[in-house]
Amino acid sequence: MMPHDDAERRAAAEYSAAPEHGAAAEHSLRTRDFLLAQINAAGGWLGFERFMDLALYAPGLGYYSGGARKLGEGGDFTTAPEVSRLFGACVARQCAEVMRKLGAGSVLEIGAGSGRLAGDLLARMETLGPLPDSYWILEVSADLRRRQREHLEERLPHLLHRVHWLDRPPEEPFDGVILANEVLDALPVARFRWHLKKVEELGVEIRGREFAWAARPAGDAMLRICRDLSEVAGPWDDGYVSEYCPRLGAWARAVTRSMRSGAVLWFDYGLPRAQYYLPERHGGTLVCHFRHRLSDDPFANLGLQDISAWVDFTRVAEASRESGFELAGFTTQAHFLAGMKIDEEMRLAAGGDENHFARLANQARQLMMPGEMGERFKAMAWLRGLELPLSGFALLDLRHSL
Ligand SMILES: C[S@@+](CC[C@H](N)C(=O)[O-])C[C@H]1O[C@@H](n2cnc3c(N)ncnc32)[C@H](O)[C@@H]1O
Repeated sequence: MMPHDDAERRAAAEYSAAPEHGAAAEHSLRTRDFLLAQINAAGGWLGFERFMDLALYAPGLGYYSGGARKLGEGGDFTTAPEVSRLFGACVARQCAEVMRKLGAGSVLEIGAGSGRLAGDLLARMETLGPLPDSYWILEVSADLRRRQREHLEERLPHLLHRVHWLDRPPEEPFDGVILANEVLDALPVARFRWHLKKVEELGVEIRGREFAWAARPAGDAMLRICRDLSEVAGPWDDGYVSEYCPRLGAWARAVTRSMRSGAVLWFDYGLPRAQYYLPERHGGTLVCHFRHRLSDDPFANLGLQDISAWVDFTRVAEASRESGFELAGFTTQAHFLAGMKIDEEMRLAAGGDENHFARLANQARQLMMPGEMGERFKAMAWLRGLELPLSGFALLDLRHSL
């Protein structure tokens, strides 16, 4: 996720500085009251993982369950598919490479946002071939499902019969591709504070009518995990704060379980563990987005702002083995897109129109420049039942860093 260009950043900052009013303010108050009640019901303290889960996904109230605009201009954040169709075109080329080897198959997209990536992928795969037999979307947000359907109905009505929305991962074994862009960062994380002689779990309590961070002694599982992490990246100073995602392994296993053969592609912002938990990153990696403004305050704009955390890609690599996959590639988003020949995609899409080419070049810069999305965002591939060099991962192999 990243804010738009400077002008949009300024406009967004001015807009978001205005007080919330009307339905949005009411929604936020309802979410806040709900969370206050949950904390009271839990005896006055909620672990942060639970708090984040409810703030994002509580039915009808959480950020992803409610009706906030979320993605793109007029929303809270933008993602690679929102920046440019080039992203989906490059992912389509990687999917086509896998599908050709398999002969046929289906695509499962997890967390499809506005539906743009699905549209871009299907449109490009229609030309590249083969089209997926089914394009499944596993989406928790009813509101986003509705928008995805509207987007695809308008963009590709003739392919809509291939798209199916799922409430849970497919039960029947299937071949093909599973992909997710910026979904791992939306999985709730636990927060800890490291001290020389103890570890604390950070949670949320109520002071007055405000939410506040509050610490409790960490349980055995958190103690063990923190000690392991500190051995990889420490020594940490007293008071070092960070996060980890306790549910990542089980969640990834569940969503990939029924793949018989094919590839899983994860795109997200994150780092290998040794860099993620460096001593200088002592305040953790929480990122909240509200109207294109970034903050690290998860208690603000409840129900209206996104809360996310950077992804520990070493944990995602461990999950590949736990899920029975081979770790087939890890690289930066810039190198993935270059490997998938984004330059060719630009020429094709521009079709000789110089102005259009210049616009596409600008979008490609946003996706690929190190200071934009190029390095912070990574691509990771898992393979099962398939031996295939993946072009997106051929230019730079960062697996040794995991
Ligand atoms: C940050 S948005 C990214 C959207 C889209 N992939 C993109 O790149 O524009 C996260 C998406 O994941 C969905 N999501 C979050 N947690 C999920 C989960 N556990 N299972 C399925 N979808 C989830 C959200 O509803 C949303 O569509």
